[in-house]
Amino acid sequence: EKGGYEHFMLKEIHEQPKAIRDTLAGRVKDGLVDLSQDLSFTEAELKRFDKIHFVACGTAYHAGLIGKSVVEKLTGIPVEVDVASEYRYRDPIITPSTLVVVVSQSGETADTLAALREAQQTGAKVVGITNVVGSSVAREADEVLMTWAGPEIAVASTKAYTTQLIAIYLLGLYLARILGTCSETELSDATQALVQLPEQVEKLLQDPVAIQRVAGEIAQHEDLFFIGRGLDHAVVMEGSLKLKEISYIHSDAYAAGELKHGTLALIEEGIPVIALATQKAVYEKMVSNIIEVKARGAYVLGLGLEGDTELGKSVDEVITIPDTRPLFTPILSVVPLQLLAYYTSTARGLNVDKPRNLAKSVTVE
Ligand code: F6R
Repeated sequence: EKGGYEHFMLKEIHEQPKAIRDTLAGRVKDGLVDLSQDLSFTEAELKRFDKIHFVACGTAYHAGLIGKSVVEKLTGIPVEVDVASEYRYRDPIITPSTLVVVVSQSGETADTLAALREAQQTGAKVVGITNVVGSSVAREADEVLMTWAGPEIAVASTKAYTTQLIAIYLLGLYLARILGTCSETELSDATQALVQLPEQVEKLLQDPVAIQRVAGEIAQHEDLFFIGRGLDHAVVMEGSLKLKEISYIHSDAYAAGELKHGTLALIEEGIPVIALATQKAVYEKMVSNIIEVKARGAYVLGLGLEGDTELGKSVDEVITIPDTRPLFTPILSVVPLQLLAYYTSTARGLNVDKPRNLAKSVTVE
C-alpha cells in the first residue's frame, strides 16, 4: 500500500508531480487557463468581486498566504487571508461583492466549514478548494475547484498543499484573463511556466543527499529558525509547521527583515537557520539578513535558485530549485522543506505518518 516507500509521507511527497499534473489536466486550453468547466460564474459575476478572502487552517492557510500574493499581483483585487478559527470572531467585513475562498484538503475541517457557512449567510459567494469529492466543503460551497491529489494518508500534508497552490494559480490566472488585468503574452508565458512545474518537482526529488545531511545535523537540536522574505516567508511558515509536527523540534518562521527587531537575540553559535532566497526582488536584502545570522555563528542552510553562485559564499549548505517565475517558486521550494522534515523525523526515529496529538481531519472547533 505504501508502493515500496517506507512511509506514506515519503510516498505522497513523491506523488507530487502526478498530483500536480492531474490538477492541471483539462484546465489549460490553447495555452491559457480555462476554468469555465469548474466554475459556473458568468463573466459579469466575476467582474463584480471587489475583494477576496482566503480562509483555511494550518497548511491550507499557508496556501492561502501564497494565494494573496498571486491573486493581488495578477488581478489587482485586494485579498485578505485568515485562519478559519479567527475569521468568524473578528467580524470580517463581508459584502455580496466579496469572494470567499475556503481551502480544505479534507473538506471537513470544522472551523473552515463554519466560516464557509457564515460567509454564505452574509450573502458572499464561496469557492471551495478541496481534495475530497462529496466532502462537506464540496457539497456546501457555491462553486468547487477540486485538487486531484488523490487520498492523502500521512497526517502531515504534502501533495495536498502543492495541489492547493496549483488550484490557486489556476484561479488567479483565470481571473486575470477574464478581468483583463494581464496581457495575453503575460498570461500565456505564465501558463507555460505553470505546466513545467511537475517536471521541475520531479527533478527536485531525484537527489536528497544534501537534505539528508542537513536533517542529520538539525535532528540534534531543539530549536531552530526559518527565514525568508516575500513569498519565501509564507513558504518557511509551511516548512516550520511541517518540521514541528513530525520531528517535534521547535522552530520559528520569521520574515527575515524582522529578526533584528528582537529575535536576533536568540541567534547564537551553532543554531540552525534555514534561509530561503528565491525571490529576486528582495535577494540582496535576504543575503544581508543571512550574513547577520551567520555573523552570530548560525549554521545556515541556504535555498536559492539554480545558477545562484553568490548564496554559497554566505551559507554552510546550499540547495537549489529550478528557475521559474517568482510567483511559482513556492511549489518548488517547499519540496526540500518537506523532505527536510521527513528525514529529520526519521533520523529521530519518530512515527512520521502519525505524529502524537494530531488527527488527519480536525472536526472539532
Ligand atoms: C499540516 C496539516 C494541517 C491541515 C489542517 C487543515 O500538515 O495537514 O495543518 O492542513 O488541519 O486541514 P484541511 O485542509 O483538511 O482543512
